[in-house]
Amino acid sequence: MHISSLRLFDFRNYESADIELSEGQNLIFGENAQGKTNLLESIFYISCLKTMRAGKDADAIRRDCPSAKIEGSFNAYGRDIDISCTITKTGRRLFVNGIPETRPRDHIGLIKTVLFSPDDLQLIKEGPALRRRFMNIAISQLRPAYIKALSEHNKIIESKRKILKMETGREVYLDYLDVLNEKLARAAAYITLERGMFLRELMALASATMIDISQGREVLTIRYNCDSSIEDPCAEDGFERIYEHLKRRKDAELASEMCLVGAHRDDFTVFINGEPARDFGSQGQIRSCVLALKCAEHGIIERDSGEAPILLLDDVLSELDPKRREFLINDASRGQTIITGCDPSMFSELRKGKIFTVSKGCIVNKTEN
Ligand SMILES: Nc1ncnc2c1ncn2[C@@H]1O[C@H](COP(=O)(O)OP(=O)(O)OP(=O)(O)O)[C@@H](O)[C@H]1O
Ligand SMILES: [Mg+2]
Repeated sequence: MHISSLRLFDFRNYESADIELSEGQNLIFGENAQGKTNLLESIFYISCLKTMRAGKDADAIRRDCPSAKIEGSFNAYGRDIDISCTITKTGRRLFVNGIPETRPRDHIGLIKTVLFSPDDLQLIKEGPALRRRFMNIAISQLRPAYIKALSEHNKIIESKRKILKMETGREVYLDYLDVLNEKLARAAAYITLERGMFLRELMALASATMIDISQGREVLTIRYNCDSSIEDPCAEDGFERIYEHLKRRKDAELASEMCLVGAHRDDFTVFINGEPARDFGSQGQIRSCVLALKCAEHGIIERDSGEAPILLLDDVLSELDPKRREFLINDASRGQTIITGCDPSMFSELRKGKIFTVSKGCIVNKTEN
Protein backbone atom coordinates (compact mmCIF):
# COMPACT_ATOMS: atom_id res chain seq x y z
CA MET A 1 0.00 0.00 0.00
CA HIS A 2 1.16 3.55 -0.54
CA ILE A 3 0.22 7.20 -0.30
CA SER A 4 0.36 8.94 -3.66
CA SER A 5 -0.39 12.49 -2.56
CA LEU A 6 -0.83 14.45 0.63
CA ARG A 7 -2.30 17.90 1.21
CA LEU A 8 -2.04 19.81 4.49
CA PHE A 9 -3.94 22.91 5.59
CA ASP A 10 -3.09 24.71 8.84
CA PHE A 11 -1.46 21.54 10.17
CA ARG A 12 1.42 22.38 12.60
CA ASN A 13 3.75 24.77 10.69
CA TYR A 14 2.12 24.08 7.28
CA GLU A 15 -0.30 26.73 6.09
CA SER A 16 -0.95 24.93 2.83
CA ALA A 17 1.24 22.23 1.34
CA ASP A 18 0.99 19.59 -1.34
CA ILE A 19 3.27 16.64 -2.06
CA GLU A 20 3.18 13.88 -4.69
CA LEU A 21 5.06 10.88 -3.39
CA SER A 22 6.90 8.01 -5.06
CA GLU A 23 5.50 4.51 -4.58
CA GLY A 24 9.00 3.46 -3.52
CA GLN A 25 11.52 5.51 -1.60
CA ASN A 26 11.00 9.14 -0.60
CA LEU A 27 13.73 11.15 1.07
CA ILE A 28 12.81 14.40 2.77
CA PHE A 29 15.51 16.64 4.08
CA GLY A 30 15.74 20.09 5.59
CA GLU A 31 17.25 21.96 8.50
CA ASN A 32 15.96 21.57 12.04
CA ALA A 33 12.43 22.79 12.81
CA GLN A 34 11.29 23.08 9.17
CA GLY A 35 8.43 20.54 9.25
CA LYS A 36 9.91 17.11 8.46
CA THR A 37 8.51 15.35 11.53
CA ASN A 38 5.23 17.24 11.12
CA LEU A 39 4.86 15.78 7.62
CA LEU A 40 5.31 12.20 8.86
CA GLU A 41 3.03 12.91 11.80
CA SER A 42 0.20 13.86 9.42
CA ILE A 43 0.50 10.55 7.54
CA PHE A 44 0.69 8.57 10.78
CA TYR A 45 -2.34 10.47 12.09
CA ILE A 46 -4.68 9.79 9.19
CA SER A 47 -3.83 6.10 9.27
CA CYS A 48 -3.69 5.41 13.03
CA LEU A 49 -5.79 8.34 14.36
CA LYS A 50 -3.13 8.96 16.96
CA THR A 51 -0.55 11.68 17.07
CA MET A 52 2.95 10.30 17.35
CA ARG A 53 3.87 13.14 19.70
CA ALA A 54 2.87 13.60 23.30
CA GLY A 55 -0.03 16.00 23.74
CA LYS A 56 -3.52 16.53 22.43
CA ASP A 57 -4.71 16.18 18.85
CA ALA A 58 -5.68 19.88 18.88
CA ASP A 59 -2.00 20.81 19.36
CA ALA A 60 -1.56 19.90 15.69
CA ILE A 61 -3.72 22.86 14.58
CA ARG A 62 -1.52 25.70 13.30
CA ARG A 63 -1.20 28.41 15.94
CA ASP A 64 -4.14 30.85 15.99
CA CYS A 65 -6.15 28.84 13.43
CA PRO A 66 -9.57 27.24 14.10
CA SER A 67 -8.86 23.85 12.53
CA ALA A 68 -6.34 21.73 10.65
CA LYS A 69 -6.98 19.48 7.67
CA ILE A 70 -5.08 16.49 6.28
CA GLU A 71 -6.03 14.98 2.93
CA GLY A 72 -4.33 11.87 1.60
CA SER A 73 -4.82 9.79 -1.55
CA PHE A 74 -3.82 6.19 -0.94
CA ASN A 75 -3.80 2.91 -2.76
CA ALA A 76 -4.31 -0.32 -0.86
CA TYR A 77 -5.33 -3.78 -2.13
CA GLY A 78 -5.72 -2.33 -5.62
CA ARG A 79 -8.22 0.28 -4.44
CA ASP A 80 -7.88 4.06 -4.43
CA ILE A 81 -8.76 5.47 -1.03
CA ASP A 82 -9.16 9.19 -0.30
CA ILE A 83 -8.99 10.08 3.35
CA SER A 84 -9.76 13.52 4.67
CA CYS A 85 -9.52 14.48 8.31
CA THR A 86 -10.32 17.82 9.91
CA ILE A 87 -9.06 18.38 13.44
CA THR A 88 -10.87 21.02 15.48
CA LYS A 89 -10.39 22.14 19.06
CA THR A 90 -13.21 19.85 20.16
CA GLY A 91 -12.72 16.74 18.03
CA ARG A 92 -12.16 15.40 14.56
CA ARG A 93 -14.18 14.72 11.43
CA LEU A 94 -13.00 11.87 9.26
CA PHE A 95 -14.14 11.01 5.73
CA VAL A 96 -13.15 7.98 3.69
CA ASN A 97 -14.00 8.37 0.00
CA GLY A 98 -16.37 11.15 1.03
CA ILE A 99 -18.26 9.01 3.55
CA PRO A 100 -18.11 10.03 7.23
CA GLU A 101 -16.37 7.52 9.50
CA THR A 102 -17.27 7.82 13.15
CA ARG A 103 -15.80 4.73 14.80
CA PRO A 104 -11.98 4.62 14.99
CA ARG A 105 -12.01 0.85 14.94
CA ASP A 106 -13.64 0.85 11.49
CA HIS A 107 -10.79 3.00 10.22
CA ILE A 108 -7.60 1.84 11.92
CA GLY A 109 -5.92 -0.80 9.79
CA LEU A 110 -7.33 0.45 6.49
CA ILE A 111 -3.94 2.07 5.81
CA LYS A 112 -1.13 0.45 7.73
CA THR A 113 2.03 2.28 8.76
CA VAL A 114 5.14 1.48 10.74
CA LEU A 115 6.92 4.46 12.28
CA PHE A 116 10.49 4.48 13.51
CA SER A 117 11.62 7.67 15.23
CA PRO A 118 14.39 8.59 17.69
CA ASP A 119 11.79 8.36 20.49
CA ASP A 120 11.56 4.63 19.82
CA LEU A 121 15.03 4.19 21.27
CA GLN A 122 13.27 4.55 24.63
CA LEU A 123 11.30 1.40 23.85
CA ILE A 124 13.94 -0.73 25.54
CA LYS A 125 15.00 1.57 28.38
CA GLU A 126 11.83 3.30 29.52
CA GLY A 127 8.76 2.07 31.43
CA PRO A 128 6.23 -0.57 30.29
CA ALA A 129 3.64 1.92 28.96
CA LEU A 130 5.74 2.50 25.82
CA ARG A 131 6.07 -1.23 25.16
CA ARG A 132 2.31 -1.73 25.58
CA ARG A 133 1.73 1.17 23.16
CA PHE A 134 4.09 -0.47 20.66
CA MET A 135 2.16 -3.77 20.84
CA ASN A 136 -1.21 -1.99 20.77
CA ILE A 137 -0.48 0.11 17.68
CA ALA A 138 0.87 -2.87 15.73
CA ILE A 139 -1.86 -5.37 16.68
CA SER A 140 -4.68 -2.81 16.30
CA GLN A 141 -3.77 -2.39 12.65
CA LEU A 142 -4.24 -6.11 12.11
CA ARG A 143 -7.24 -6.96 14.32
CA PRO A 144 -10.25 -4.66 14.73
CA ALA A 145 -11.43 -7.01 17.54
CA TYR A 146 -8.27 -6.13 19.46
CA ILE A 147 -9.19 -2.42 19.48
CA LYS A 148 -12.63 -3.31 20.81
CA ALA A 149 -11.25 -5.62 23.53
CA LEU A 150 -8.67 -3.04 24.57
CA SER A 151 -11.23 -0.27 24.89
CA GLU A 152 -13.55 -2.61 26.85
CA HIS A 153 -10.67 -3.70 29.10
CA ASN A 154 -9.72 -0.09 29.85
CA LYS A 155 -13.32 0.88 30.61
CA ILE A 156 -13.68 -2.04 33.05
CA ILE A 157 -10.42 -1.11 34.78
CA GLU A 158 -11.69 2.47 35.14
CA SER A 159 -15.00 1.27 36.66
CA LYS A 160 -13.17 -1.07 39.02
CA ARG A 161 -10.79 1.70 40.11
CA LYS A 162 -13.73 3.96 40.93
CA ILE A 163 -15.32 1.26 43.11
CA LEU A 164 -12.07 0.21 44.80
CA LYS A 165 -11.31 3.81 45.74
CA MET A 166 -14.79 4.59 47.16
CA GLU A 167 -14.53 6.02 50.62
CA THR A 168 -18.01 4.93 51.73
CA GLY A 169 -20.58 2.40 50.53
CA ARG A 170 -18.15 0.11 48.72
CA GLU A 171 -19.80 -3.03 50.16
CA VAL A 172 -22.88 -2.47 47.98
CA TYR A 173 -20.72 -2.95 44.88
CA LEU A 174 -18.97 -6.18 45.88
CA ASP A 175 -21.21 -8.40 43.73
CA TYR A 176 -20.86 -5.97 40.85
CA LEU A 177 -17.08 -6.29 41.17
CA ASP A 178 -17.49 -10.02 40.48
CA VAL A 179 -19.46 -9.22 37.33
CA LEU A 180 -16.75 -6.78 36.22
CA ASN A 181 -14.03 -9.35 36.98
CA GLU A 182 -15.61 -11.92 34.71
CA LYS A 183 -15.79 -9.40 31.85
CA LEU A 184 -12.25 -8.24 32.59
CA ALA A 185 -10.93 -11.80 32.47
CA ARG A 186 -12.55 -12.31 29.07
CA ALA A 187 -11.06 -9.14 27.56
CA ALA A 188 -7.65 -9.68 29.21
CA ALA A 189 -7.49 -13.29 27.99
CA TYR A 190 -8.08 -12.21 24.39
CA ILE A 191 -5.54 -9.37 24.62
CA THR A 192 -2.96 -11.73 26.19
CA LEU A 193 -3.45 -14.28 23.43
CA GLU A 194 -3.02 -11.67 20.68
CA ARG A 195 0.01 -10.13 22.38
CA GLY A 196 1.51 -13.56 22.99
CA MET A 197 1.21 -14.53 19.32
CA PHE A 198 2.47 -11.13 18.17
CA LEU A 199 5.55 -11.29 20.42
CA ARG A 200 6.33 -14.86 19.37
CA GLU A 201 6.38 -13.82 15.73
CA LEU A 202 8.19 -10.57 16.56
CA MET A 203 10.96 -12.52 18.27
CA ALA A 204 11.38 -14.90 15.33
CA LEU A 205 11.73 -12.06 12.82
CA ALA A 206 13.69 -9.65 15.04
CA SER A 207 16.23 -12.28 16.06
CA ALA A 208 16.92 -13.10 12.40
CA THR A 209 17.52 -9.37 11.67
CA MET A 210 19.71 -9.07 14.77
CA ILE A 211 21.87 -11.97 13.62
CA ASP A 212 22.34 -10.16 10.29
CA ILE A 213 23.11 -6.80 11.87
CA SER A 214 25.61 -8.21 14.36
CA GLN A 215 27.21 -10.70 11.98
CA GLY A 216 25.97 -13.55 14.10
CA ARG A 217 27.34 -12.27 17.40
CA GLU A 218 24.09 -11.26 19.07
CA VAL A 219 21.06 -13.37 19.83
CA LEU A 220 17.87 -11.44 20.56
CA THR A 221 15.10 -13.01 22.61
CA ILE A 222 11.87 -11.60 24.02
CA ARG A 223 9.99 -12.61 27.16
CA TYR A 224 6.35 -11.61 27.51
CA ASN A 225 5.64 -10.61 31.12
CA CYS A 226 1.91 -11.21 31.22
CA ASP A 227 -0.38 -12.16 34.10
CA SER A 228 1.50 -14.49 36.44
CA SER A 229 -1.26 -17.14 36.27
CA ILE A 230 -0.62 -17.66 32.53
CA GLU A 231 1.73 -20.50 31.65
CA ASP A 232 1.55 -20.23 27.87
CA PRO A 233 0.28 -16.88 26.49
CA CYS A 234 -0.47 -18.54 23.16
CA ALA A 235 -2.76 -21.18 24.75
CA GLU A 236 -6.54 -20.85 24.81
CA ASP A 237 -6.98 -21.25 28.60
CA GLY A 238 -6.39 -17.58 29.48
CA PHE A 239 -9.93 -16.81 30.61
CA GLU A 240 -10.10 -19.52 33.31
CA ARG A 241 -6.63 -18.70 34.59
CA ILE A 242 -7.11 -14.93 34.76
CA TYR A 243 -10.64 -15.25 36.22
CA GLU A 244 -9.39 -17.55 39.01
CA HIS A 245 -6.47 -15.21 39.61
CA LEU A 246 -8.86 -12.24 39.92
CA LYS A 247 -10.90 -14.18 42.51
CA ARG A 248 -7.77 -15.04 44.50
CA ARG A 249 -6.61 -11.41 44.48
CA LYS A 250 -9.98 -9.84 45.29
CA ASP A 251 -9.13 -9.15 48.95
CA ALA A 252 -5.73 -7.78 48.00
CA GLU A 253 -7.37 -5.47 45.45
CA LEU A 254 -9.87 -4.24 48.06
CA ALA A 255 -7.06 -3.67 50.58
CA SER A 256 -4.73 -1.87 48.16
CA GLU A 257 -7.58 -0.11 46.25
CA MET A 258 -5.74 -1.02 43.05
CA CYS A 259 -6.43 -3.25 40.03
CA LEU A 260 -3.74 -5.88 40.50
CA VAL A 261 -4.72 -8.29 37.74
CA GLY A 262 -5.21 -7.55 34.04
CA ALA A 263 -3.55 -6.75 30.73
CA HIS A 264 -2.90 -3.14 31.82
CA ARG A 265 0.14 -4.44 33.73
CA ASP A 266 1.69 -6.36 30.81
CA ASP A 267 5.23 -5.77 29.65
CA PHE A 268 7.96 -7.51 27.68
CA THR A 269 11.71 -7.75 28.14
CA VAL A 270 14.24 -7.84 25.32
CA PHE A 271 17.39 -9.87 25.96
CA ILE A 272 20.69 -9.88 24.08
CA ASN A 273 22.65 -13.08 24.53
CA GLY A 274 20.44 -13.91 27.53
CA GLU A 275 20.91 -10.62 29.39
CA PRO A 276 18.26 -7.86 29.60
CA ALA A 277 19.16 -5.24 26.95
CA ARG A 278 17.78 -2.55 29.29
CA ASP A 279 20.43 -3.22 31.93
CA PHE A 280 23.40 -4.48 29.94
CA GLY A 281 23.00 -3.34 26.30
CA SER A 282 25.41 -0.77 24.81
CA GLN A 283 23.87 2.19 22.96
CA GLY A 284 24.66 0.57 19.63
CA GLN A 285 23.11 -2.73 20.73
CA ILE A 286 19.95 -0.99 21.94
CA ARG A 287 19.71 0.91 18.65
CA SER A 288 20.12 -2.35 16.73
CA CYS A 289 17.48 -4.05 18.91
CA VAL A 290 14.91 -1.32 18.20
CA LEU A 291 15.75 -1.41 14.50
CA ALA A 292 15.25 -5.19 14.54
CA LEU A 293 11.91 -4.85 16.41
CA LYS A 294 10.63 -2.23 13.96
CA CYS A 295 11.66 -4.27 10.91
CA ALA A 296 9.96 -7.28 12.50
CA GLU A 297 6.77 -5.27 13.10
CA HIS A 298 6.87 -4.27 9.44
CA GLY A 299 7.39 -7.92 8.41
CA ILE A 300 4.48 -9.19 10.53
CA ILE A 301 2.09 -6.61 9.12
CA GLU A 302 3.22 -7.35 5.57
CA ARG A 303 2.85 -11.11 6.05
CA ASP A 304 -0.49 -10.85 7.81
CA SER A 305 -2.13 -8.36 5.46
CA GLY A 306 -0.43 -9.32 2.20
CA GLU A 307 0.86 -5.80 1.49
CA ALA A 308 3.85 -3.93 2.88
CA PRO A 309 2.79 -1.16 5.28
CA ILE A 310 4.06 2.37 4.67
CA LEU A 311 7.39 2.72 6.44
CA LEU A 312 7.97 6.11 8.09
CA LEU A 313 11.54 6.69 9.24
CA ASP A 314 11.97 9.93 11.14
CA ASP A 315 15.52 11.14 11.52
CA VAL A 316 17.03 7.75 12.23
CA LEU A 317 19.73 7.68 9.56
CA SER A 318 22.27 9.84 11.40
CA GLU A 319 22.29 7.29 14.20
CA LEU A 320 23.41 4.50 11.92
CA ASP A 321 26.57 3.40 10.20
CA PRO A 322 26.62 3.49 6.35
CA LYS A 323 25.80 -0.22 5.97
CA ARG A 324 22.66 -0.05 8.10
CA ARG A 325 21.72 3.26 6.42
CA GLU A 326 21.92 1.69 2.97
CA PHE A 327 19.81 -1.20 4.18
CA LEU A 328 17.12 1.11 5.58
CA ILE A 329 16.97 3.43 2.57
CA ASN A 330 16.83 0.77 -0.11
CA ASP A 331 16.00 -2.63 1.32
CA ALA A 332 14.09 -2.41 4.60
CA SER A 333 10.79 -2.56 2.76
CA ARG A 334 9.50 -3.81 -0.56
CA GLY A 335 6.84 -1.13 -0.23
CA GLN A 336 6.82 2.61 0.23
CA THR A 337 9.33 4.28 2.54
CA ILE A 338 9.34 7.93 3.62
CA ILE A 339 12.55 8.98 5.31
CA THR A 340 13.54 12.31 6.84
CA GLY A 341 16.95 13.67 7.72
CA CYS A 342 18.99 16.86 7.97
CA ASP A 343 22.04 15.96 5.94
CA PRO A 344 21.47 15.51 2.19
CA SER A 345 24.77 13.64 1.81
CA MET A 346 23.24 10.77 3.81
CA PHE A 347 20.84 10.24 0.96
CA SER A 348 23.54 9.47 -1.58
CA GLU A 349 22.75 5.80 -1.01
CA LEU A 350 19.31 6.20 -2.67
CA ARG A 351 19.05 3.98 -5.74
CA LYS A 352 15.52 4.86 -6.87
CA GLY A 353 12.82 7.25 -5.66
CA LYS A 354 12.11 10.92 -4.99
CA ILE A 355 13.94 13.57 -3.00
CA PHE A 356 12.25 16.61 -1.42
CA THR A 357 13.39 19.55 0.65
CA VAL A 358 11.33 21.18 3.39
CA SER A 359 11.89 24.73 4.48
CA LYS A 360 9.54 26.71 6.75
CA GLY A 361 6.59 24.48 5.94
CA CYS A 362 7.20 24.57 2.19
CA ILE A 363 7.92 21.32 0.33
CA VAL A 364 9.91 21.26 -2.93
CA ASN A 365 10.48 18.23 -5.16
CA LYS A 366 14.21 18.05 -5.97
CA THR A 367 14.08 14.95 -8.10
CA GLU A 368 15.59 15.40 -11.53
CA ASN A 369 13.25 14.36 -14.37
N1 LIG B 1 0.55 23.87 16.16
C1 LIG B 1 1.61 24.44 15.60
N2 LIG B 1 1.50 25.61 14.92
C2 LIG B 1 2.58 26.19 14.33
N3 LIG B 1 3.81 25.67 14.35
C3 LIG B 1 3.98 24.50 15.01
C4 LIG B 1 2.90 23.83 15.65
N4 LIG B 1 3.36 22.68 16.22
C5 LIG B 1 4.68 22.67 15.95
N5 LIG B 1 5.06 23.73 15.21
C6 LIG B 1 6.40 24.10 14.70
O1 LIG B 1 6.75 23.28 13.62
C7 LIG B 1 8.16 23.43 13.46
C8 LIG B 1 8.74 22.23 12.72
O2 LIG B 1 8.64 21.07 13.52
P1 LIG B 1 9.20 19.62 13.07
O3 LIG B 1 9.24 18.83 14.32
O4 LIG B 1 8.41 19.08 11.96
O5 LIG B 1 10.66 19.98 12.60
P2 LIG B 1 11.72 19.02 11.90
O6 LIG B 1 11.92 19.54 10.51
O7 LIG B 1 11.36 17.61 12.08
O8 LIG B 1 13.01 19.40 12.76
P3 LIG B 1 14.19 18.45 13.38
O9 LIG B 1 15.18 18.27 12.29
O10 LIG B 1 14.73 19.31 14.46
O11 LIG B 1 13.58 17.20 13.87
C9 LIG B 1 8.71 23.71 14.85
O12 LIG B 1 9.43 24.90 14.85
C10 LIG B 1 7.49 23.86 15.72
O13 LIG B 1 7.57 24.93 16.61
MG1 LIG C 1 12.07 16.11 13.34
